[in-house]
Amino acid sequence: MSTVIENVTARKVFNSRGEKTLEIDISTIAGFGRASAPAGASRGKAEVISYPKGEVDQAIKKVEELVAPELIGRNADEQEEIDLLLHELDGTEDFRNLGGNMAYAVSLATAEAAATSYGMPLFQHLAGYFANELPYPLGNVLGGGKHAGGKTPDIQEFLVLPVKAEIFSDAAKANILVHQRVGSLLRKKDASFTGGRGDEGAWAPNIKNEEALEIVAKACEEVSEESGVECRVGLDIAASTLWKPKEERYVYSREGTKRNSGEQLDFVSSLVKNHNLAYVEDPFHEEDFESFSKLTKRVKKCLVCGDDLFATSKKRLARGMKVGAGNAVIVKTNQVGTLTDAWETTKLAKKASYAPIMSHRSGETTDTHLAHLSVAFHCPIIKTGVLGGTRVAKINELIRIEEMLGNRAEMSALLL
Ligand code: PGA
Ligand code: ZN
Repeated sequence: MSTVIENVTARKVFNSRGEKTLEIDISTIAGFGRASAPAGASRGKAEVISYPKGEVDQAIKKVEELVAPELIGRNADEQEEIDLLLHELDGTEDFRNLGGNMAYAVSLATAEAAATSYGMPLFQHLAGYFANELPYPLGNVLGGGKHAGGKTPDIQEFLVLPVKAEIFSDAAKANILVHQRVGSLLRKKDASFTGGRGDEGAWAPNIKNEEALEIVAKACEEVSEESGVECRVGLDIAASTLWKPKEERYVYSREGTKRNSGEQLDFVSSLVKNHNLAYVEDPFHEEDFESFSKLTKRVKKCLVCGDDLFATSKKRLARGMKVGAGNAVIVKTNQVGTLTDAWETTKLAKKASYAPIMSHRSGETTDTHLAHLSVAFHCPIIKTGVLGGTRVAKINELIRIEEMLGNRAEMSALLL
């Protein structure tokens, strides 16, 4: 059979931050898949462990000694079985023996090897003929936190989300225009702004949170009017990075303020209201399901999304659903390891009307599989930045997917 795995190779490559990461090649009789793992800078505590002790070198050794001999001779088309095998070979809850990033790269390279064996694009191999919806691109245009140092804002990401566009490339173009407009507004405000950018290609200026929000809101308004694509503002507060458990406060050190849970709830609610935010990610620390639930009840027409909160885990999402924590979930496959695990979480999200959002990490390679996963998993939104080679790689792949779909292509329905 053309999908039988003949060879597995592991190597060390670099990501966009210059860190070492793992790349896997899988060849079948008729196909070939290659996938590399991304890396987070503001990782959630509930994520699986990225690498075994000994990091990427040890992961490579384990691929060669343990995983490759088991994979060779198997059928790359049997995704679930292969993902299960990875769990068995690892033998722990958190992938600490193999590393979640190894599981991720093997799982994805396997899927691609099967797809190319059949001469199919990855999204179609995973989801069939009826996967024909393109996600809206959610992108970071200004940021700070763990993605940029110095006097950048405490809030990690100020985002743009087009909420109505005819075609994907119009939405992507609007995001680029907003990014450019934010740049010129920043230069106007501060002549000494050097044009520096953070890990995900977002501007990294010396500016306070609320000033940043005003600038992004203004840019969104102007671009919406000029382009006819309605753009709204979002935030990823990445609040676990601000939370100091001993003080029980969110410490905004660059702004010089502290907020307890109640104050944080009021602060975020007022930001949503005053700036008509369409999206707020991780407004509270990763164990505070209760505040998530309070905010979700308070706001209207706004996605309240859990990243560190859920860590793409089906169990944690189920726990959140019980108390109404959030109405959207970030899907970062390497937070759980395999494609099957990420798909399970996505399915549960859809069942409960949570919006699943396929997401990059701050450390990325030019790998484009994320674009295919967003379409295959029927995600209404992909979060993958706006500018920078590793971000644009995914956007451009979605433009190709839109072209492949031809007149069957549709934009996803956004629940906003
Ligand atoms: P990361 O986080 O740096 O862990 O990829 C990005 C995010 O919080 O969305
Ligand atoms: Zn996040």
